[in-house]
Amino acid sequence: MDMKQRIAEEIAKAEACCFTGCGVGAKELAGMMEIPPDKKLGDYALPCFRLSKSLHKAPQMIASALAERIGCEEIERVEVVGGYLNVFLNRSCLARTIVETVLAHPGRWGASDVGKGKTVCLDYSSINIAKRFHIGHLSTTMIGHSLKRIYDFNGYTTVGINHLGDWGTQFGKMICAYKKWGDRRTVEEGGVQAMVDLYVRFHQEAEKDPSLEDEGRAWFKKIEDGDEEAMAIFTWFKEVTLKDTQRVYDLLGVTFDSYAGESFYNDKMEPVVEELREKGLLVESQGAHVVMLDEYDMPPAIVLRSDGATLYITRDLAAAFYRHNTYHFDKCLYVVAYQQNLHFKQLFKIIELMGHDWYKGMEHVSFGMVSYEGRALSTREGYVVYLEDLLNKAVEKAREIIEEKSPNLPNKDEVARQVGVGAVVYFDLHNDRTKDIDFRWERALNFDGETGPYVQYTHARCCSVLRKAQAFEGAQANYQTLTDDEACDVLMLLARFPETISKAMEANEPSLITRHTTQLAQAYNKYYFEHRIMDESDPEGTAARLNLTRAVSDVIKTGLYLIGVEAPERM
Ligand code: ARG
Repeated sequence: MDMKQRIAEEIAKAEACCFTGCGVGAKELAGMMEIPPDKKLGDYALPCFRLSKSLHKAPQMIASALAERIGCEEIERVEVVGGYLNVFLNRSCLARTIVETVLAHPGRWGASDVGKGKTVCLDYSSINIAKRFHIGHLSTTMIGHSLKRIYDFNGYTTVGINHLGDWGTQFGKMICAYKKWGDRRTVEEGGVQAMVDLYVRFHQEAEKDPSLEDEGRAWFKKIEDGDEEAMAIFTWFKEVTLKDTQRVYDLLGVTFDSYAGESFYNDKMEPVVEELREKGLLVESQGAHVVMLDEYDMPPAIVLRSDGATLYITRDLAAAFYRHNTYHFDKCLYVVAYQQNLHFKQLFKIIELMGHDWYKGMEHVSFGMVSYEGRALSTREGYVVYLEDLLNKAVEKAREIIEEKSPNLPNKDEVARQVGVGAVVYFDLHNDRTKDIDFRWERALNFDGETGPYVQYTHARCCSVLRKAQAFEGAQANYQTLTDDEACDVLMLLARFPETISKAMEANEPSLITRHTTQLAQAYNKYYFEHRIMDESDPEGTAARLNLTRAVSDVIKTGLYLIGVEAPERM
């Protein structure tokens, strides 16, 4: 159901009658149609200026000629103002079409199969081993997770990849520190924090005794050589990190299809480096092997260090080839903070220079920084907020609010988790991803305003209305009751939801869905406060209002789902 398309078809018909053979088609007309800023000017407007060239007539004349010919069930009336053809929709017909179409696609309104047969790889979250998950990692995790759902919803095959940061000399130091001062139980119990402590200790001690650096390097060499003991400890460090992180992923409901990280590519870089060399792209510079990119206004990309060691970008090159060969992706998205803009520009450029046109499917989905209560996070200054702490605190706060507002709610713990986590996720996905975010409790957890709890509450409100509606089951809906302005706003937002999903996918911008869903919630609440939903004296009108409520509830749930937020039925 695409009203705009439907109206465009009607105009195209009229156009074909009036101006034989020289008009433009429905599709093009739909592209020209605008939504007037003021409802008094209609629901859609066609600026006829752009037609006057091909039709060789004045815009005003074109508009008048079309106006005379137009007449269909969906259109109430048309008006000509200046060179515009303003179209007023038949609201009850519109209401019926929209509501019934939405209800015919439960949980799937806005879904499509444009991605059928295509694959998209999404690299997101991509945590570093032996580092704690802090709120700076929220955006990559949630934008990636949301995009995965959006692509899925559009028929793509999706591959979620956690490109683990599990390679580097720091792991040698960590093992060294563990051997000297650590023990199994402390790490088992303390998790990642215990590893971080060991690492900090290593640096403190190394200041007094620089020979430790050599020992650390020696341990890393052992990892590189596959030494049994070193590998056992290193693998165990990884397991501990993943187990710690899994708690956060469980809270967020985030999953991955692959955990192939940097170390996975240890034995897969050679052929890529070889290809670079063969194609004459590798240049020696102070002993290192680099790809020169000055022609593209970029510094050289170091692929091999002078000691032969590989780098972050070497592994990303191997990963790109691996993903291409394994998944045959149409798109490969990297959801990584903007600090790595250059890295990805270099990466894509190198693959382009190698002559592989699949580089065109690769895209860096970058995003801004997160600060907390007005202050930039800084590990050095000790101002860090761990994601798990933040989420737990959000759940706790949600629990307090629920205790106060609905003490009799069943499964309060579950709802508190959905609301608390939802508030944080919503907050993260509410603004354009490239903007910086300042996390504030009083804004995230507010039940009013543009917040997760507000949207969830609206959904629960719809569910509550529908629970009480049994008495009206079976009544024939009279859509004449949905012709007021408030209903019309709700209807338009329902109708445009699929368009928003496509746009969100095109721009890799989940916030478009967050905001659309919020507007829908706001429009429904406005409707709810100005209209009585259930009215015994008017069962047919009630049936229409209940159908509207059902459609809203379903679409809000879908919108929240697509951004990774749950929608409890009671709050
Ligand atoms: N682990 C990296 C970091 O924390 C992010 C990795 C992103 N993915 C990639 N393929 N480079 O900065």
